[in-house]
Amino acid sequence: MSHLITAESISKVFQSGAIETKALDNISFNLNNGESLAITGASGSGKSTLLSIIGLLDSPTSGALYLQGQLVSGLSNYQKRILRNREIGWIFQNFNLIGHLDVLENITLPLRYDPRVSWRDYENIGKQALTSVGLADKATALPQQLSGGQQQRVAIARALVNKPSLILADEPTGNLDSKTSTNIIDLLFTVVAQGATLLLVTHEPDLALRCDSEIILNDGLVSDAKPPITV
Ligand SMILES: Nc1ncnc2c1ncn2[C@@H]1O[C@H](COP(=O)(O)OP(=O)(O)OP(=O)(O)O)[C@@H](O)[C@H]1O
Ligand SMILES: [Mg+2]
Repeated sequence: MSHLITAESISKVFQSGAIETKALDNISFNLNNGESLAITGASGSGKSTLLSIIGLLDSPTSGALYLQGQLVSGLSNYQKRILRNREIGWIFQNFNLIGHLDVLENITLPLRYDPRVSWRDYENIGKQALTSVGLADKATALPQQLSGGQQQRVAIARALVNKPSLILADEPTGNLDSKTSTNIIDLLFTVVAQGATLLLVTHEPDLALRCDSEIILNDGLVSDAKPPITV
């Protein structure tokens, strides 16, 4: 199995005025294609910061990140954008849906940046994704007309619509009731069973246990890892 992600001594320091925050301190791990990794730890421990760096929305202050064996710091902004749009599906805690676009338009947004997909196919692919999350009848609804659980399912359909090899989920069920959470998590693990790789930030121990491995952060440091990290 090949490594999809290799993180070598990644550190991130935020500087605001005279105040420095070391959000990540020498984080190293590998993740194989098709595996799932839970990232847990208290609020402020660096989980979202780590996800942002792996998802190419932010850069580390020091250390090296490799995606699919490529050193990310050696890529141009254009190459990073292509990787982000084609290979990575993001699920944010607060959904991040666009309020003035209807559900189908929200879902097909990632396809607009993918030259491999013809605009003629947007609608069909979007409707299939919507059906897979059980919302086939909501294509023309606006996000604010949906419940929290329905909005999160739209966000998941959007994250999965371009069949990403890497799914980054930041507390995807944080705002949902337990039945809806279970459905959404089952859906994510179905996609992992089909070959995708998952990084899942969660506060829920049961969810972390469903992943192949777990990293526990404490003030930016890996305080524990299951199984132990060998890099
Ligand atoms: N853009 C930023 N500027 C300055 N400090 C930041 C920034 N983003 C995060 N931090 C700080 O970095 C640390 C880690 O934040 P992060 O958002 O990664 O935590 P988290 O583990 O995701 O927390 P939560 O569980 O509450 O979402 C915190 O101390 C936070 O205040
Ligand atoms: Mg966070």
